[in-house]
Order: sequence, then C-alpha cells, then structure tokens
Amino acid sequence: MHSALDTAAVRRQFPGLARRGGDRQAVFFDAPAGSQVPAVVAEAMVQQLLHDNANHGGVFATSRATDAMVHDARQAVVDFVGGDDPEEVVFGANMTTLTFHLAHALARTWRRGERIVVTDSDHDANVTPWVRAALAAGCELVRIPVRADASLDLDGAARLITRDTRLVAFGAASNLSGTIHPVVRLCELARAQGALSFVDAVHWAPHLRLQVDRLGCDFLACSAYKFFGPHLGVLWGRRALLEELDCDRVRPAPRHGAEKWQTGTANFEAIAGTRAAVDYLARLGRSVGGPAERRGALDHAFHAIERHERDLCRALLQGLADLPGVRVVGIADPDRVAERCATVSFTHERVRPAELATALAQAHVHCWAGNSYALALTTALGLEPDGVLRLGLLHYHTQEEVAYTLAQLRRLLA
Ligand SMILES: Cc1ncc(COP(=O)(O)O)c(C=O)c1O
Repeated sequence: MHSALDTAAVRRQFPGLARRGGDRQAVFFDAPAGSQVPAVVAEAMVQQLLHDNANHGGVFATSRATDAMVHDARQAVVDFVGGDDPEEVVFGANMTTLTFHLAHALARTWRRGERIVVTDSDHDANVTPWVRAALAAGCELVRIPVRADASLDLDGAARLITRDTRLVAFGAASNLSGTIHPVVRLCELARAQGALSFVDAVHWAPHLRLQVDRLGCDFLACSAYKFFGPHLGVLWGRRALLEELDCDRVRPAPRHGAEKWQTGTANFEAIAGTRAAVDYLARLGRSVGGPAERRGALDHAFHAIERHERDLCRALLQGLADLPGVRVVGIADPDRVAERCATVSFTHERVRPAELATALAQAHVHCWAGNSYALALTTALGLEPDGVLRLGLLHYHTQEEVAYTLAQLRRLLA
C-alpha cells in the first residue's frame, strides 16, 4: 500500500523552507545545486561535533563512537545505492574530487591508443577528469553525442564503444535538461566490449531510487548535499576493483577496503549527516506505508517522491507551454514526465536567463541561470554563452510554488 506524500508534514522538517521573502515563503527552485536539509541532518552533525568528536581508529570512547558512526553510515549509503557491501562505499570531499581520484587510479591501467568514452550530456565533473586522465595515458577520448532533444544518441554510443574501450563514463540523468539516460543499456554496451562503466548519479539521487545491482555499473558517484544531506561526496565501486586498483594514498593509510580510497582525515560530521539524510528518506518511506526495514522503506519513499515530482513537473511544463517565446530544453511534453526528472531548463526568445533569474530572485524564487557546469551540453545545443534558466523541483515543493513561479514568469515576460 502506497499513500501520497504529506507535503506539509515534510516541509515542517526543513527549517530552511520557512524562510520569508516579502509577504510569502521563499521558493527554493535552486535544488539541483543543493537541496535544503531536514533538522535531523544538522542535529546528527552537531551530535558528532559536540559529543563524539574524535579521529577514527582509536581505543577510547569517542574514537570508538566515530568508528561505529562511520560503519553505520556506510551501511546506510549501501542501502541507499542498492549495493550489498559497506566496504564498497568511499566518502570524499565531493563527487568532482572523487572522480579525479578514481580517474587518476584507473589511468594507471590504461595503455596508449585505448579508448575512453564520455558524453556530450554530462556535468563537467564527469568529463574533464576523464579527458585529462586519457590525455596523460595517451588514450583516445570520444564523446557520445546528444540529439536535438537533449537525449543521448544510443546508436552513436553503440558505434563508439568498441573492443579497445576501457571506460564509459556517463550521467544517470542530466542536471540541465533533467533527461533520464538509458543507464542499463549503456552499462550493457560497455560490459559487452569488456569496458568498465562509471555512472554520475548526482542528479538522479534525490529523484529516483538507486539500485547499482540492477543498473549493472562498476562505479557510481553521488553527492549527499543533493539528497538532503551535507556537503559530502560518495563513490560506490565494485569491491574487487577497489581492491586491485592502485590509488593515491600515503604509506601508513589502510591498504584495503574503502578506507584505502579516503585520502586524509574524513569529514566525520558530514558522514554523520549523510547517514541521517538516508534515514530521513527511510522515515519518509515509512510515512507512506513502507516497512520498518531501511531498503524497503527507501523503495516506498522513492515511489512517493516520483509520483509527487511528476505531478509538479507536469504542471510546470504545461504552464511553460502557455508562455510565448519560452523554449524548454529537452523533453517538454507534459505526458512524458516519466522520462525526465523534475528539473526544467528553458530559454526565452528575448529575455536572457540571467535577467530572468535576477527578476525571479526579487520575487523570492531562488533559481540558477547559466550552464550549471553542463558545459558539454550547452555547447552541443548552441546555448552558450547565456545558458538557460533552470527550475529544480524536489519532493518538498508544492503546486502552489509552481503556480506562483509561473505567475511571476507570466508577469515578467508580458
Ligand atoms: C550531475 C552532476 N554531476 C556532478 C556534479 C558535481 O558534484 P560535486 O559538487 O559533488 O563535485 C554536479 C553538481 O552540481 C552535478 O549536478
């Protein structure tokens, strides 16, 4: 049994959402650059800093508490990504840093003339680390193109992923167009040619259930600050690969397990906050009929999140379709919301994205203009230098906020 999200109850858990702007609550459509955070996440971070603060690996009480917390956090994240081994979860500063780290290690196994495949749809954090690593190793770098509707060209992908390909790196969903990519198919194409797959799930993570076992990838990265947690990056990788790869590490650091990949002292308070973010989502799942057990609860949470976000996205796309001069990037059809996340970017024939973002900020709608680092995509679609205006919706948003923002746009564009 699934019940619908109680948005009012959800919103009460996020103190940031109560922020006033003029005579109303501010609208946080800047979410793809970082979500708001429920109080339980901040409380977990305060607990770690004020009561359990110590480096890990010691014999005394606070160090033991920190070790136990990190262990629990790995278990929470492995439930969140749908893996089965907590030692496959690596914490780091952010997704970009972890990706550079992994690229550096993988490149040591590459040979001159081999091929690395990236896409024209991705955030640059999933492009430049591979471009630089390929260059250093003397590998050929190719890009899967995008079609005019911002979707990935799968025929092109099948042609480009050849026998000498070592890695295919792609996003699970675009942080600019919101388009969901054919992750399973791309992983299959990589595997069929003996290549590894790396999935950037940063944009996907707050919107859709992650299940690395079903996706079939070798590595996957996400960022807790996009799924209601603090600023922390997460890398999941197959245990055998994490064990056999030679990554940058100092001599006294562990040689095995996830710790081998974590350079220097970890951000323990952010790890505590990330565990709390996963538990927040699990509680959300229980509130809509999910079981006590965390994985099942997360399944329910994302079922409810998807349903709620699709309704919001449909209303937003319908409203934008009625605004003359507006062109949505990617899937604009309100009947195709299942193929995209509720992240909607658009341009206007006359008014630049930056002007729109400034005017919306004055109306207390927080949102981003520009390329949001999806530089390959804005370049491929001819959207540089101004980029797009991006409205990013999450499960804590309401139909009232969508209607208010559309009314502001109607006024601004009149
Ligand atoms: C799709 C996507 N990938 C990667 C990143 C980079 O993540 P981080 O800030 O954790 O390095 C972002 C950040 O916006 C993103 O949206």
